[in-house]
Amino acid sequence: MKLSPSILTCDFARLEQEIAFVENTGADMVHLDVMDGVFVPNLSFGPPVIERIRPLTRLPFDVHLMMQYPGRLVDAFAKAGADILNIHLECDSPIGETLDRIRALGMTPAVTLKPATPAEAAFPYLDKVGLVLVMTVEPGFGGQKFMADMLPKIQALRAEIDRRGLRVEIEVDGGINPETARQTAQAGATVAVVGSALFNAEDPRGLAQRVQACGKEKK
Ligand code: DX5
Ligand code: ZN
Repeated sequence: MKLSPSILTCDFARLEQEIAFVENTGADMVHLDVMDGVFVPNLSFGPPVIERIRPLTRLPFDVHLMMQYPGRLVDAFAKAGADILNIHLECDSPIGETLDRIRALGMTPAVTLKPATPAEAAFPYLDKVGLVLVMTVEPGFGGQKFMADMLPKIQALRAEIDRRGLRVEIEVDGGINPETARQTAQAGATVAVVGSALFNAEDPRGLAQRVQACGKEKK
């Protein structure tokens, strides 16, 4: 699995060191949680902060927009240095149009599903995206418990992606640790967001490696 650490639970007064910490774990990208206080009951950061941390690492920026109107800021996130731009299927921007704009600006478009949204809701967009993000907690806060009932959704998405011969990553986000990562990898996930488990780990590099080894034992 690829590892995309979420910096949501990091110390924002020490962003430079926290980005270095993420790099030292051997992560594949950095997961950036953008919250607008409307789509989710929390606020985090936006394009100006992302632009400032962009020069600190060469790792791709995997930006998760928990916003009601993500379409309004697509150009700003491109300028700030986002590589993957995830918009929620439950948002109020036109999905297809917004994904096309994301691609036109050179980023990888991605759709994200809240726990109550079925796999089928993403099917019409599978040929437009490079990644589908399956939330395994209710979005808004780090440190929540993994919802195992999301595993059939991951399986359904993987089956449809493979049936259509598409190369689309499935990313999981929320309550991921080496054990839940393994379960999601077996269901067909290929990218793991890890927040609190990584930042609270005694051996972050070892934990990162255990997550990255998930899926390898699969036939
Ligand atoms: C939740 C965010 C997640 C979160 C993950 O709304 O999308 O990325 O920070 O944190 P953990 O791994 O602690 O659940
Ligand atoms: Zn996230």
